[in-house]
Amino acid sequence: MLIRRAKKEDYAAFAAIETAHPGYPAWGQNGFEAEEKNRHSVTLAAEEGGAVAGFINFWILRPQVQLNTLAVGKDFLRRGTASALIGKMLEYAAKNLCREIDLEVNENNAGAIALYRRRGFEVVGKRPKFYNNTDAALLMRRVMPVEDTL
Ligand SMILES: CC(C)(COP(=O)(O)OP(=O)(O)OC[C@H]1O[C@@H](n2cnc3c(N)ncnc32)[C@H](O)[C@@H]1OP(=O)(O)O)[C@@H](O)C(=O)NCCC(=O)NCCS
Repeated sequence: MLIRRAKKEDYAAFAAIETAHPGYPAWGQNGFEAEEKNRHSVTLAAEEGGAVAGFINFWILRPQVQLNTLAVGKDFLRRGTASALIGKMLEYAAKNLCREIDLEVNENNAGAIALYRRRGFEVVGKRPKFYNNTDAALLMRRVMPVEDTL
């Protein structure tokens, strides 16, 4: 699997991946395109066999990284794609001397919560009625070990 910077030509595939997960807050092609103007923003694509398997977007706001969106296509689930995208984000965090990575996840999204816990994130807070004025968001954080940033 190849993890690389996203290109304009990827955005249609990203949007299709989003809509394949009903209820997931979608950015749409325009949303990804708008990120190109944000100098803090990094969007990465996971590519497998020439196909776009997933994406991640995060902002580097030193000393913090904010993970904004992450999704994997239905045909590629449970093959380590999301984990590889998170791994690359952690490399960016370390190289940019960031101390922590923060994200919000729907409290009912057990799969994503399991993924984040496995990658070293812990729940540090909760925002009630965050999604569609019903589901709460869990705030999760990964503090970078000192040796990662030296
Ligand atoms: C959550 C999501 C990104 C996971 O992508 P993925 O590529 O399938 O995840 P990985 O294969 O890297 O999973 C790594 C580990 O995370 C955990 N995990 C991932 N998905 C899981 C699920 N549905 N249920 C339980 N554990 C899960 C497992 O521990 C897994 O390891 P294992 O397969 O060896 O058991 C994917 O299901 C998705 O795109 N969901 C819709 C969008 C979304 O919810 N994004 C997160 C937004 S905050």
